[in-house]
Amino acid sequence: MFITFEGIDFCGKSTQVKLLKEYLVQQNKKVKIIREPGGTKISEKIRKILLDKDNEGMNIKTELLLFAASRAQLVNDVIKPHLDDGYFVIADRLHDSSIAYQGYGRGIDLDFVVHLQDFVLSGVTPDVTFFLDIPVEDSDKRKQNSGRQNLDRIELSKNVFYQKVREGYCKLTEEFERIKRIDGLKPIDDIRNIIVRELRQLDSSLKGVD
Ligand code: TYD
Repeated sequence: MFITFEGIDFCGKSTQVKLLKEYLVQQNKKVKIIREPGGTKISEKIRKILLDKDNEGMNIKTELLLFAASRAQLVNDVIKPHLDDGYFVIADRLHDSSIAYQGYGRGIDLDFVVHLQDFVLSGVTPDVTFFLDIPVEDSDKRKQNSGRQNLDRIELSKNVFYQKVREGYCKLTEEFERIKRIDGLKPIDDIRNIIVRELRQLDSSLKGVD
């Protein structure tokens, strides 16, 4: 099964990816975790360019194409082979991030962004996507409380940008059955149990919530 996690920065994706991995390993499943952008030698190099604060002059088209380039390598080298080999692949972000951030957020032509994702994924699409939804103000509070000094180029974006990204995710949720919106302000364990329950409906070999 191919599972992706989406949401604005600091929505709690990484925590849930970790908890889901623990659950699936308990269920004796083979699990592969990937993060975007990155996940292959070439994609990690592209990640550095994308997130480097020195690159504040990056054109939005360059940004879109670099995310796509990183993803193409990851799909080909890691995602497809692991799915073929029976793994549960869990992706911390995938193409919906480009549609939300570069399409809705940056305002690049949506049709083009969507077509580019089809080209990059070559038919490898997630079975289910968990969109952890938190208000932009909460993302901002979490950002400040994280105490992280080194915010990356995209995390330094303004709240108006994140508002558009969030609205983009909400529109995608309405459009695609595969995307499940979860209130990201709920307690961590509640979110984890919602995710497990959802997966059990999709795969009857998965057992119990705890
Ligand atoms: P990362 O540190 O991985 O953030 P997070 O832990 O929140 O996922 O950095 C990824 C950043 O890149 C994040 O701000 C979202 C952004 N992004 C896009 O703008 N477009 C994309 O296609 C992807 C995959 C990420």
